[in-house]
Amino acid sequence: PTRILSGVQPSGKLHLGNYFGAIRQHIALQNTGECFYFIADYHSMTTLQDPTARLANTRDVALDYLALGLDPNKATFYRQSDVPEVCELAWIFSTVCNMGLLERAVSYKDKLDKGLEPNVGLFSYPVLMAADILILRSHLVPVGKDQVQHIEITRDLADRFNRVYNREIFPLPEYRLDAESRIPGTDGEKMSKSYGNTIEIFAEGKPLSKTVMGIVTDSAKLEDPKNPETCTVFALYSLFATPLEREQLADRYRAGGMGYGEAKKALLGQIEAYFEEAREKRKSLVRDPGYVEEVLRVGAKKAREVAKVTLELVREATGFIARP
Ligand code: TYM
Repeated sequence: PTRILSGVQPSGKLHLGNYFGAIRQHIALQNTGECFYFIADYHSMTTLQDPTARLANTRDVALDYLALGLDPNKATFYRQSDVPEVCELAWIFSTVCNMGLLERAVSYKDKLDKGLEPNVGLFSYPVLMAADILILRSHLVPVGKDQVQHIEITRDLADRFNRVYNREIFPLPEYRLDAESRIPGTDGEKMSKSYGNTIEIFAEGKPLSKTVMGIVTDSAKLEDPKNPETCTVFALYSLFATPLEREQLADRYRAGGMGYGEAKKALLGQIEAYFEEAREKRKSLVRDPGYVEEVLRVGAKKAREVAKVTLELVREATGFIARP
């Protein structure tokens, strides 16, 4: 069977980019293959060094996923750090990984450009990610567009390892994109925690309406015709609306006479309705922290069973004896 795996960093509150780019696929796929989803808490250390925030974010991501429909009876859900075999494999991969491969990583270069002072962990981030994917010998990785290069690096490392050690231990995993793989943020750039342009999935009330009403638009006047194709409000509205609603809004844009404020209110209504059920579910999960912990505990146990087998194969192939 196809083994499907993906992860999310607990580096802040989950947002619409995470949902439409990745989480929606994760939930939909749990009815198809053998799914493993995890919270990449070790990855979050490359940019977040506040322990209290990490704990809170990790708990939030777990609640969010369960509220959005992750079913622990169908998908294995765990914390990366509960599967320490991942780090051991990452070390081994780092020794078959050329510096140049990582130096070409766009997401690393982006962070440098933004003035982030890089640590070694940020540089070798894709190696740890390859270990996440390959420790479970996964075939398919559903992600957003910004992660595609990381999956390509993973394929590279899997292939290199297999060739250097002359074994077929690792499959070469494929990425999977949703129809919407690059969701724009409130400023029109890619929605990202690190750009401060996100709309949080579980925001509500004043904070949510403030964010939505603050989406950047062009300076067309109320009576002017507007171009739906270039409007962030319209792009976001399209994620939620039915095809008919989408066409109706597009017609009103082109006709003129409708302001962006009205379009934003329509978007706000869509967001509120769309996540209504998940919001209720989340509130009830918050009251049951024991359940959430138990899900992660059971998930880690299952993931570790597979991880241990992979690591034994790898150790045997690379000239190590079985551990006592
Ligand atoms: P992270 O935590 O940044 O994002 C989680 C998922 O959300 C997707 N995403 C988006 N998709 C579309 N439009 C956007 N604006 C947008 N913003 C985020 C991301 O592509 C991702 O799928 N490196 C990963 C976490 C990770 C991982 C892994 C993923 C660690 N190990 C192994 C897959 C397999 C990351 O930082 O995602």
